[in-house]
Amino acid sequence: MTRIITQEEKDAQRVFADAVREYYAALGIAQPLALVRTFGCQQNVSDSEHIKGMLALMGFGFTETPEDADFILFNTCAVREHASDRVFGNVGRLKSLKREHKNLLIAVCGCMAQQPHIAEKLRESYPFVGLVFGTHVIHRFPELMLKALRSREPVTEIPVEDGVVAEGLPVCRDSHFKAWLPIMNGCNNFCTYCIVPYVRGRERSRAPEDILAEARALVAAGYKEITLLGQNVNSYGKAEGYGMRFSDLLRAINDIPGDFILRFMTSHPRDASRELFDTIAACDKVSRHFHLPVQAGNDRVLKVMNRHYTREQYLSLIRYARSVVPDISFTSDIIVGFPGETRAEFEDTLSLVKEVGFTSLFTFIYSPRVGTPAAQMPDPVDADTKVAWLRELTAIQEEISGRISARLVGTEQRALLEARRDGYTEARMSDNRVVR
Ligand code: SAH
Ligand code: SF4
Ligand code: F3S
Repeated sequence: MTRIITQEEKDAQRVFADAVREYYAALGIAQPLALVRTFGCQQNVSDSEHIKGMLALMGFGFTETPEDADFILFNTCAVREHASDRVFGNVGRLKSLKREHKNLLIAVCGCMAQQPHIAEKLRESYPFVGLVFGTHVIHRFPELMLKALRSREPVTEIPVEDGVVAEGLPVCRDSHFKAWLPIMNGCNNFCTYCIVPYVRGRERSRAPEDILAEARALVAAGYKEITLLGQNVNSYGKAEGYGMRFSDLLRAINDIPGDFILRFMTSHPRDASRELFDTIAACDKVSRHFHLPVQAGNDRVLKVMNRHYTREQYLSLIRYARSVVPDISFTSDIIVGFPGETRAEFEDTLSLVKEVGFTSLFTFIYSPRVGTPAAQMPDPVDADTKVAWLRELTAIQEEISGRISARLVGTEQRALLEARRDGYTEARMSDNRVVR
């Protein structure tokens, strides 16, 4: 069941925030400095923006220099081994800094922290980490911070408080023209390789009126791009029965007066309906880009992955989308070397990639995750072979991406200016490609 955090709970956190401010004042630190490092997906980036909002409420300023920081937080990702390794490396390097800087508080939160065996490892091998908290208690951050500051022992808080939706958290956005707007959290799909449902809990959605109010405020504040976030946006509101599904929400935000680009991610092919593409066709502010992770091009592999669609269903969805939104561009995620995937099955992925013509791909070598069904499956293909397959796939994709880009040379496109770097101006087009 979805549970909205009450006003009393929010007020209580404000009291904790004031106490943290006083704690530092008593130490003679007028403005403590925080460094927040974020790993993983946009959901984590958005969570970090809220954590920074709470830090600002507690009187913190921000720094990028570890030596200057009074508080260092790692917001972590557990989706692949590589992501976890990087966090342990980064945290390990802070051991000596903690020795020199007694008041420094080091914390780890996010999807890795939510895994009991990781929290255990941090407690045992990284005792200089003073605070570990999971994905379900972000709204209680001021309270946890105060507890950790006052405690001699490391504080660990990783309860599974599934279904919590926190509205009205303060936020410090990283950009003044691009905004992340979470509409839901969690995932119910349990793809057999994936850790996300275990570390993020079940799907729960914010109420449409809260999302719309935030979107209106963003447009009024001059934001030019709004990206709606969820692990599976197409099942928005399913659990709650708000009477508004994802397509309705998209239309409602599209109808907000103003000049802005509306994006969303991620979509699961099983739940991406034809109606959604009809909606995109009818909505002028929705970008002509669709991220639709396919993961594999072979039906047996898709089935063992628990993806609930076939290659043909996926391709037919793409065909339909192109028939109603001719200029739509597709990107995707692909896992190479899923346990038991054969060479012939991998070749089905290659042929699917050629057939669809994605503008770009995110490609990953399968990484076993503790507690997921796939981690128990026989995995006979060796690591070198998987690396070779991945190279083969990326080479094919590079060729395709180049060809698609070449088609646009000489055409006129609307784009959002994002940065000026190395004497170039970088702008993002509606189809999500960056032009320099
Ligand atoms: N909710 C999104 C994606 C979440 S994770 C979706 O379902 O599309 C982002 C990507 O990481 C996935 O699409 C998948 O390609 C990849 N991924 C997830 N678990 C993985 C694992 N164990 N090994 C390798 N890649 C993985
Ligand atoms: Fe993971 Fe699948 Fe959920 Fe995406 S849909 S987060 S891949 S379990
Ligand atoms: Fe990683 Fe958690 Fe996102 S595992 S991909 S940060 S939801």
